[in-house]
Amino acid sequence: MQIFKGKHEIRDFISKCKALGKRVGFVPTMGYLHQGHLSLMQTATKDCEVVVASIFVNPTQFGPKEDFSEYPRDFVKDCRLLEAQGVDALFYPEVQEMYGDDFSTWVEVSGLGDSLCGKSRPGHFRGVATVVTKLFNIIQPDSAYFGQKDAQQSLVIKRMAQDLDLPVKVVIVPTVREKDGLAMSSRNVYLTPEQRAVAPVLYSSLQKAEQMVAEGEREIKKLESMVIDELAKHKDAEIDYVEIRSLPNLEKSDRLESFSLMALAVRFGQTRLIDNIILEV
Ligand code: PAF
Repeated sequence: MQIFKGKHEIRDFISKCKALGKRVGFVPTMGYLHQGHLSLMQTATKDCEVVVASIFVNPTQFGPKEDFSEYPRDFVKDCRLLEAQGVDALFYPEVQEMYGDDFSTWVEVSGLGDSLCGKSRPGHFRGVATVVTKLFNIIQPDSAYFGQKDAQQSLVIKRMAQDLDLPVKVVIVPTVREKDGLAMSSRNVYLTPEQRAVAPVLYSSLQKAEQMVAEGEREIKKLESMVIDELAKHKDAEIDYVEIRSLPNLEKSDRLESFSLMALAVRFGQTRLIDNIILEV
């Protein structure tokens, strides 16, 4: 695997691949890779002849009181995993390479980025949309791969690519879970053993909602209340939000219609975890 720290160097590499007619798949990450990331790489490998990953802990998507400086990092292990996955190239820029000294242009997907996680993390999706636009411009991939666990992020990026006519296919890959159902996340390492033991309730409560829908429930308030009650049984779990929103526009309504996203965010101490399922009627 070739590692590039400079945008011009990786661009040269990509240009050579494209000149040979190869399709380029791109998996942007913030590192500390787990099986969820690797499944994005595997999907990219099936679709494309060249797979490029990036590791960049993007400061602009973290709020002032968030975990940017503590965000877990393990570059050596990440490289080993990427090599084993057959990734061809890694883009690993410094903050200076991405933002320089005088950065002043932002990409904001209004509406979609304001609710759910956007409400509790103001500016988060502006940071995500901006860095992903820059990464798309640097790498110029044919396809890019994102996890369903970050459902709102995936919707924001899809909309951004569509609105800005970015010539990239945005592919959403299913969430990878631990055996007990906890969605894989780099932040799971922050959990204490006690919090880790409780954390599967995020997914089990979503599954209960799915079951209620299968049994005929259509009232959004009832479904949300059931999940809130399930989570509230655990005093360690502080609910940030539990909401059902329409897909793909994330609008509120009273009753389920066709496809909806049921999403939640829960804090265990300082650690904020998210999860979601798609409800279909
Ligand atoms: O999902 C992530 O890891 C990040 O938000 C992303 C897409 C790499 C942008 O920094």
